[in-house]
Amino acid sequence: MNRVPIGIVLNGVTGRMGYRQHLVRSLLAIREEGGLPAGDGSRIWPEPILVGRNPAKLQEIAERHGLTDWTTDLDAALARDDVQIYFDAQVTQQREKAIRAAIEAGKHIYTEKPLADDTAAAVELYRAARAAGVKHGVVQDKLFLPGLRKLHRLVEGGFFGRILSVRGEFGYWVFEGDWQAAQRPSWNYRAADGGGIVVDMFPHWQYVLERIFAPVRSVQAAIATHIPSRVDEAGAAYEATADDAAYGTFELEGGIIAQINSSWAVRVYRDELVEFQVDGTHGSAVAGLRECHIQHRGSTPKPVWNPDLPATERFREQWQRVPDNEPFDNGFKVQWERFLHHVVDGTEFPWDFAAGARGVQLAELGLQSAREGRRIEIPTLDL
Ligand SMILES: NC(=O)c1ccc[n+]([C@@H]2O[C@H](COP(=O)([O-])OP(=O)(O)OC[C@H]3O[C@@H](n4cnc5c(N)ncnc54)[C@H](O)[C@@H]3O)[C@@H](O)[C@H]2O)c1
Repeated sequence: MNRVPIGIVLNGVTGRMGYRQHLVRSLLAIREEGGLPAGDGSRIWPEPILVGRNPAKLQEIAERHGLTDWTTDLDAALARDDVQIYFDAQVTQQREKAIRAAIEAGKHIYTEKPLADDTAAAVELYRAARAAGVKHGVVQDKLFLPGLRKLHRLVEGGFFGRILSVRGEFGYWVFEGDWQAAQRPSWNYRAADGGGIVVDMFPHWQYVLERIFAPVRSVQAAIATHIPSRVDEAGAAYEATADDAAYGTFELEGGIIAQINSSWAVRVYRDELVEFQVDGTHGSAVAGLRECHIQHRGSTPKPVWNPDLPATERFREQWQRVPDNEPFDNGFKVQWERFLHHVVDGTEFPWDFAAGARGVQLAELGLQSAREGRRIEIPTLDL
């Protein structure tokens, strides 16, 4: 089969997301499958060029996976004619500068979220990419998770009737780093380094709410730094200056009320690390990363409030599991495949920089709402 190599600069490939989800689980997985079938019958063959700051780490990753192309010189990588795509999974604060350089080099761009540190910068990146005529996209992986795809399927099939509300619960305990190592990088807990759970998670909630239910029209958030000091990767104590929990209420177009709790200081008594309960006039659903359960109005029990008696029913057992009905691949990989088709075959890719800018906007206005103690309406972005 005719392989069409496509050079992809992967910047930030030593990080959690860059390495595991994007290099190994997406691009190398596509190669293991023999490449991605393109519209003309050829095979799109990703050729990763690993870029980072630490030569020893890059070389080690390259050797581990039988790759040879790595460099610490981003500009040199971007100057190469055999590079078509720039991908960014660096810490968020380094992103804007690198994406600008990639736009100037005429490369197509795919990036982790959030697109930039603030809305104005994100909008500028959208305008610059459009003006340069390059293709652009932002990771919106949650949309490709089996649980949320099943939820989307239920919405499209009219299962809920009129949707009333969405309750999201996201989070888990992130260790403080003293007696057990933290399972997230320390920059996540320092505001000056681009950390904070609002900046991290509200961009996800923006596209989940907009794509599955309706656009977000207002936000009201309370935030907290529940754990004020932590211990970093080198064993040094530091002050946690960024929010580690956010309790948000979002009003959606059409009157749906969404409430989503996001926390790195909560212990899990749920089936999955994120769960959304959706209630509608005709039925309800609870969706996680993989599973989705439903209860139709016809099988809804009639509980009667009586605190004098123990619970008379096993409520969880009254729900029905939604079957897969289709194979589900890794969400990051599925979105990568869509971006590669977008670049090579010119197919649609709605998860672009404009969509990414709306995610940054919701985070920014969520933080403003928390600071000012009020509900804030979300203006349509002037693109
Ligand atoms: N889509 C998702 O579900 C998801 C999940 C987690 C993180 N992310 C995003 O991915 C990006 C990376 O997050 P991560 O958790 O992989 O972080 P990480 O700390 O594990 O990796 C960060 C990467 O950036 C590099 N880097 C470049 N310049 C740096 C600098 N000046 N200081 C520190 N590191 C620098 C590091 O070497 C490393 O390769 C962030 O923008 C984050 O918002 C997305």
